Order: sequence, then structure tokens, then C-alpha cells
Amino acid sequence: MKDMPLGQVYQLLEPGPVVLLTTAAHGRANVMTMSWHMMVDFTPPLVACVVSSADHSFAALRATRECVIALPAVALAKKVVAIGNCSGRDVDKFATIGLTPLPALHVAAPLVGECFANLECKVVETRLVNRYNLFVLEVVKAWGDPAQEHPKTIHHKGFGHFVVDGRAITLASKMP
Ligand SMILES: Cc1cc2nc3c(=O)[nH]c(=O)nc-3n(C[C@H](O)[C@H](O)[C@H](O)COP(=O)(O)O)c2cc1C
Repeated sequence: MKDMPLGQVYQLLEPGPVVLLTTAAHGRANVMTMSWHMMVDFTPPLVACVVSSADHSFAALRATRECVIALPAVALAKKVVAIGNCSGRDVDKFATIGLTPLPALHVAAPLVGECFANLECKVVETRLVNRYNLFVLEVVKAWGDPAQEHPKTIHHKGFGHFVVDGRAITLASKMP
């Protein structure tokens, strides 16, 4: 074993898939790229995620307590990186990067038409926001695109490196 800088730990544990997080505040939709998220419970599905207070999305998420988590397949990878390298503070990312906002059912934040799944979420826990920028979201509605049958997700390894979802294997396991 060799020493590994602590600053590289996230590259091992950041499992992905890389997702998009949309918000809508004051009638304006925005989208950011996010890979720091994890499941917290099965049903209703709870998801913890870290949204930096430096992100324009942070204020919208904190104020509206709503968002959509949209799952892009590998074909959208270049757009996903572009979305994560500019701010809704400066640009309308849906228009400039070329994504289709679709109305959601329970939240004002839009679904992303090009994504293979969209999860409408409400913020249910904010006690760790001030300390860690960590929000817990409840998925209140889930959508899937039947036209994207076997989507390959992308998983962030840091600084423009990604792993694409690979070979599937099935083993006997009681774990849901
Ligand atoms: C692959 C990738 C993963 C990212 N993951 C996160 C994340 O988990 N949390 C976060 O706050 N920012 C993350 N970012 C950075 C935001 O997407 C970026 O700061 C974005 O410009 C914020 O947009 P906004 O200012 O419009 O909210 C990631 C960026 C990339 C490219």
C-alpha cells in the first residue's frame, strides 16, 4: 500500500451516476451537475446530496425546497460537463447548452426531456445544510423514458475523467 492524498478520496467513493439537478426560483429554471449524492431509504426514496453554497442552485433549493434529479446517459456526457462548468447566475443553461425543460407534476423545477429518468423531489431535512451543504430529498414522483431502454450512466472520477456503466452481472442475493 502506498500513501494516497486525502484530497483524492472522493475519486474512490464518488460512485455516481452523475446526475443533473434542476431548480426553479422566481420563475427561472436552472440546472447543475451533481455527483455527491447517496440513497438514504427505500420507500419513500430518500436521497442525500451536497449542493455547494457557491452554486446558484443552492439558494433556489434552499428557498423553494424542491428540485428534480434527472439522470443522463453517456450520450449527454459533454452537455453534463458543460452544465457543471458554468453557472445559472450568468447563463440560461437550458437554452445555451440545449436541453428541453418539461413540466413536472408536483414541483416547479423542470424535468429534463433528454434524460432517461427524472425524479421530482422535495427537501425533507435541512439540519446539515449550514454545516455541510447537505440536503435530504424525498422523491415524490419518478418518471422513466421508455425510449431509452438500457442507458449507460457516467460516473465521475475527477477532473474530466468518467467511467461509463459497464458489463452487468447477476448473482444470488437477498438484498433488494
Ligand atoms: C462531474 C461534475 C460533478 C459535480 N458534482 C457536484 C456536486 O455533487 N455538488 C456540487 O455542489 N457541485 C457539483 N458540481 C459543480 C456544479 O455542477 C457547478 O458548480 C455548477 O456550475 C453549478 O451551477 P449553478 O451555479 O448554476 O448552480 C459538479 C460538476 C461536475 C462537472
